Order: sequence, then C-alpha cells, then structure tokens
Amino acid sequence: MAKRNIFTLSVFTLILPLAIAGRAIVPLLQFQDKPSFLSPTFSRIFDTSMYGTLQLNNGLAQTPQMGWNSWNFFACDINETVIKETADALISTGLADLGYVYVNIDDCWCPTRNSEGQLVPDPKTFPSGIKALADYIHGKGLKLGIYSDAGVFTCQVRPGSLYHESDDAKLFASWDVDYLKYDNCYNLGIPPKDRYPPMREALNASGRTIFYSICEWGVDDPALWAGKVGNSWRTTDDINDSWASMTTIADLNDKWASYAGPGGWNDPDMLEVGNGGMSYQEYRAHFSIWALMKAPLLIGCDVRNMTAETYEILSNDEVIAVNQDSLGVQGRKVNVSGTDGVYQVWAGPLSGHRLAVALWNRGSKAKTITAKWEALGLQSSITVAVRDLWQHKEVAENAVSSFGALVDAHDCHLYIFTPQTESLRNVF
Ligand SMILES: *[C@@H]1O[C@H](CO)[C@@H](O)[C@H](O)[C@H]1NC(C)=O
Ligand SMILES: *[C@@H]1O[C@H](CO)[C@@H](O)[C@H](O)[C@H]1NC(C)=O
Ligand SMILES: *[C@@H]1O[C@H](CO)[C@@H](O)[C@H](O)[C@H]1NC(C)=O
Ligand SMILES: *[C@@H]1O[C@H](CO)[C@@H](O)[C@H](O)[C@H]1NC(C)=O
Ligand SMILES: *[C@@H]1O[C@H](CO)[C@@H](O)[C@H](O)[C@H]1NC(C)=O
Repeated sequence: MAKRNIFTLSVFTLILPLAIAGRAIVPLLQFQDKPSFLSPTFSRIFDTSMYGTLQLNNGLAQTPQMGWNSWNFFACDINETVIKETADALISTGLADLGYVYVNIDDCWCPTRNSEGQLVPDPKTFPSGIKALADYIHGKGLKLGIYSDAGVFTCQVRPGSLYHESDDAKLFASWDVDYLKYDNCYNLGIPPKDRYPPMREALNASGRTIFYSICEWGVDDPALWAGKVGNSWRTTDDINDSWASMTTIADLNDKWASYAGPGGWNDPDMLEVGNGGMSYQEYRAHFSIWALMKAPLLIGCDVRNMTAETYEILSNDEVIAVNQDSLGVQGRKVNVSGTDGVYQVWAGPLSGHRLAVALWNRGSKAKTITAKWEALGLQSSITVAVRDLWQHKEVAENAVSSFGALVDAHDCHLYIFTPQTESLRNVF
C-alpha cells in the first residue's frame, strides 16, 4: 500500500494554520487579544505554542475521550458478559449521560490468529464475537474500543499487530469498532515513530473513523510527534492504584502541557478512582488533576459495583466540564511552596475568559494554600468570583490579588475563577 506522505500535513499546518486547524485556534485568539485582566506573563505561564499544530485531523478527540477500560480492575479476567454488564451500568448509573461513552476492551480478548491470519476472539470468553458485542454496545448509544499492540505480541503474549496493521484495522472496522488502544510490548526494538504510523494509515484506509490511542508509555517523548499520528498518546509508564504512582505520573505528564489541544491529548493513563488503593481525598485529587490536565477520563473500576464516594467523584459534572471545556488547553502546575514543593497550585485557561484553579496539598498535614494572581497570569487588581467545584457553590464574589483555602492532607480543591470586570461584562 502506498503510504500517504505524512509531511504534507505538517507543512500545511505551518503555512495555513487557520485553514487547517481553524476550529482549534479561534478560541485561543480570545486570550491572545489580551483582555485587560491578563498580565503580560499569562501567555508565558500558559504556553500554548504547540496547541493545535500537530493534529491527526480525523475529526475525533475534540475534547478528551471519556469512557471505561477493563484493565485496571479486571486485567485478563474479562468476557462478553462483564463488558455488557459494564455498558448496562454506565447507562443505569447515568455515567454515560455525563459523557462516559467508550467501553474499551483491553488485553486478553484474542488468544490466536486463524489459518487465514485473522485475529480470533477467545471462543470461551467472547463466544458471540466482537461484532455482536459492538451491536449491543451501539444499541445502547455507546461506543466499543478494542486493544492491540505495535509488536509481535501484546503485553499478555497474545498476537500483536506489527506487520498485520492493514488486515487487523480492516477486521476492527468490519466489526464496527470505534476505538483502538495500541500498546508497546514485544516491539523488536523498532522505534515507536516507525511502528505507530502504519496503524494510523491502516485505520484511515479502513474507511471507518476509529479513535487512535497510542500507548508507547512516553518512551520516545510522543508529545513531540504523536499528534500527527494519534488522538492521544501515553506520556508515562502504567499507573498503579497508589498515591506514589498517581503523583509521579501527574508531574511527568505536566511537562508536555503545551502540546495538547483539540484532536490530540497527552494521556497520563486511566483512572484508578474506586479501586481501593487510595483514600477519598487522594482519589478526588486524582480526578481533579486529570480533569484539569485534559487527560482522557477512562474509568478503571468495576462500575457495576461502585461505592457512593466513588460515584460522587466520577459523576461530578462540574469537574467533568473542566475536562471537556471547548478551549482544550491543558492546565498545569503554576506554583509550588513548602518543603519538597508539596503545596501546589495548578491552573489552566477555560473558555469564556475563565480559569480552572486547583489547590493541591501533597503534604501530610492540612495547610492553607494560596493562589496569587501573579502565579495565574492575572493583573493583581482584578476582582474574581470563585466557585468551588466539589462544594458546588460560590465561595467568593470579589477575591482580589489572591485566594487561599485550608486543604486537607492529600486533598485537592478545584475552582473556577471568573474575572469580574466591567470591560469583560461588555465583551460577553
Ligand atoms: C466473566 O468475568 C467476570 C469478571 O471477571 C466474572 O466474574 C464472571 O464469572 C465471568 N463469567 C463467565 C461466564 O466466565
Ligand atoms: C483519513 O485521513 C484524511 C486526511 O487526514 C481525513 O480527512 C479523513 O477523515 C480520514 N479518514 C478516516 C476514516 O479516518
Ligand atoms: C506503583 O508505582 C510506584 C511509583 O511509580 C512504584 O514505586 C511502585 O513500585 C508501583 N507499585 C506496583 C505494585 O507496581
Ligand atoms: C463490591 O465491592 C466491594 C468493595 O467495595 C466488595 O467487597 C464486594 O465483594 C464487591 N461485590 C461484587 C459482587 O463484586
Ligand atoms: C509560589 O507562591 C508563593 C506565594 O504564594 C511565593 O512565595 C513563591 O515564590 C512562589 N513560588 C514560585 C516557584 O513561583
């Protein structure tokens, strides 16, 4: 198969950014207009120089993907019953209505290829086949995701798609699959930049629009190149259900903030909320920071059996709205203080000249953490209305120059800051 010249797209995006990525760039111009409440440091703090320039341009991922994936809770213990029951639970709990629409099967669905070389779903665990499952999922208004690997085997030593890209993509398309997570095991030492584009070409040639989730674990700095290849790219090694893992991964993902934007997102891995290894406060921090970082929100627990606290976190529509905001600029760490920098302020621009601001206490005692306007790129004289997205209420009408709150150990508050100026009211 003739390969599409991948450089055509990048040259075009350099020469004609508005024509190619107009939808993505327009909202940012509002900020580049520099409303009076912004200080000159704003565009340095929230560098978006790479925003919208590297998109795969298959029309998907205008906001980060939301849904569920089988791995973090079930690992290999999956079957068509548990996938269907999960789809049912996403509907009955209302999570689907909140945006969690992808139902993603991870590794272990396919033990072998048949004599024609086609992938065959495990006849014991998926006896009805993937097409029937896709029909079931689509019948509920949801979307089905599948998993393969840019290597000769998957991580659980099932058949990989390296050198089978075209056949496998055609097969996934024939099953009406909507999403592919593409892993990085048994890769023969071939660089990711050589192994991931062939699957992009194969998915595109299949004629079905399929979300392409690149999972090369951040080994080759995918933010620098994967925007042209996939709709999201993992920036780190696998998450595990611990505070140490979650905080480490948040910091690693933060580095690439300027590369995210509609069409392509940094992926710090799936959610562990509800899996039992972290406290309520820690899971709330995990969810708040993932939302602010414009990370994919892929639930990783058993949604058939969630506690009230797990449900409260995952269903917080105000936090989800930060993640799904149309501006699509990744929030980032803007200030640290205290020993080892454990008292942290994270923030990011939102549509409508608003900011999402998180006060995150990574220390072991409750502490008042303060966000200064200076750290947020706001003029210090500006008055700001502050809404607390976990308390679901306005907590300040006229904050000026700084805003602080007492934050429990390992907890994270998340707010929306709306600058209150006459000039702004006139603009909107
Ligand atoms: C399907 O998987 C679930 C989750 O691991 C398990 O509880 C259930 O027993 C399995 N069902 C069958 C029929 O294997
Ligand atoms: C294939 O790629 C072209 C060029 O980026 C794009 O316009 C088209 O929508 C893609 N088709 C599919 C099915 O992804
Ligand atoms: C979880 O991740 C942390 C941080 O990367 C690591 O120190 C720890 O060993 C991991 N735990 C497991 C069980 O893999
Ligand atoms: C539901 O989750 C609880 C822990 O929150 C666990 O103890 C229980 O075994 C689970 N029930 C099922 C049916 O999986
Ligand atoms: C963070 O903010 C504090 C005041 O809240 C300030 O003293 C400190 O210099 C800031 N740190 C950085 C790294 O900007």
